Amino acid sequence: MFSGAGERERYSKTPTYPDLAGKVAVVTGGSGGIGAATCRLLAANGVKVAINGRDEAKIGAMVDVIRSAGGEALGVAADCTDLASVERMRKHTEEELGPVEVVAAFAGGGRARPGPLAQTTEKEWRSTVDANLTVTFLTLKSFLPGMIERGGGSIVTMASSATRFSTGAPTPYAAAKAGVIVLTREVASEVGAHGVRVNCLAPHTVLVERTRRFMPDEQQRRIAAEIPLRRLGTPEDVALATLFLASESSSWITGVTLDVAGGKVT
Ligand SMILES: NC(=O)c1ccc[n+]([C@@H]2O[C@H](COP(=O)([O-])OP(=O)(O)OC[C@H]3O[C@@H](n4cnc5c(N)ncnc54)[C@H](OP(=O)(O)O)[C@@H]3O)[C@@H](O)[C@H]2O)c1
Repeated sequence: MFSGAGERERYSKTPTYPDLAGKVAVVTGGSGGIGAATCRLLAANGVKVAINGRDEAKIGAMVDVIRSAGGEALGVAADCTDLASVERMRKHTEEELGPVEVVAAFAGGGRARPGPLAQTTEKEWRSTVDANLTVTFLTLKSFLPGMIERGGGSIVTMASSATRFSTGAPTPYAAAKAGVIVLTREVASEVGAHGVRVNCLAPHTVLVERTRRFMPDEQQRRIAAEIPLRRLGTPEDVALATLFLASESSSWITGVTLDVAGGKVT
């Protein structure tokens, strides 16, 4: 998936936010796609990264990528739809790496099939809300008390352009991601006085391994043609926005949702 030499090359070109060096970050969904790029760029900025996902093999591969490029990484497998698992992940991270100052709550994705709402099953609805909104709630619930107690931290959550306009994504997914935006705004306002910032990203179509596999080239071209910057996103586009929101360079920004979307915002 990643070549060692290519990885080192990419590391050397990473923008540096000096205040990030030495911090501890947890990236849920860090074993693949956008989360994996985020882990790599955080590690390249000297962050100690706890990489989460459910599949141990995928996590192990990412840990190896980061360590072989000189970064510090820990694998923390957990299904983030389950609070007890998230709590175990947090405790393990704190024991091994120290207090967590950055959380990228990126675990999520599609569960429902696209199609009319009336044909969406109750199971699809519930699992999609669980996989995207509840997962974010549980992550924030677990990590916020420590951040509040220590008086600082930055959390980045994950919505989607499907919350901004009709993209054709399944309605349960769009609705769950819209919930993430409101969750972010409300929590940001609640915890700002404790020095904790919470912001959200709303990417449009990003070419990860999964989209490359399932989206025909013609569909990719059609979507790109409707984007003002005329290309699909890369995982690194989203990771770079995350670095900014994680760092002190965004110290007066909280409660916002940033469209990482090549200008496709309506
Ligand atoms: N790609 C896009 O075009 C796009 C656009 C807008 C928003 N997003 C959002 O960005 C996030 C990342 O998407 P992606 O495209 O990078 O996805 P991806 O390539 O499918 O990767 C998803 C990652 O999340 C992990 N994951 C999923 N559910 C989990 C759970 N319950 N607990 C722990 N880990 C979990 C997966 O690992 P395991 O399979 O091992 O669990 C994997 O590491 C998602 O929230 C997605 O909705 C993506």
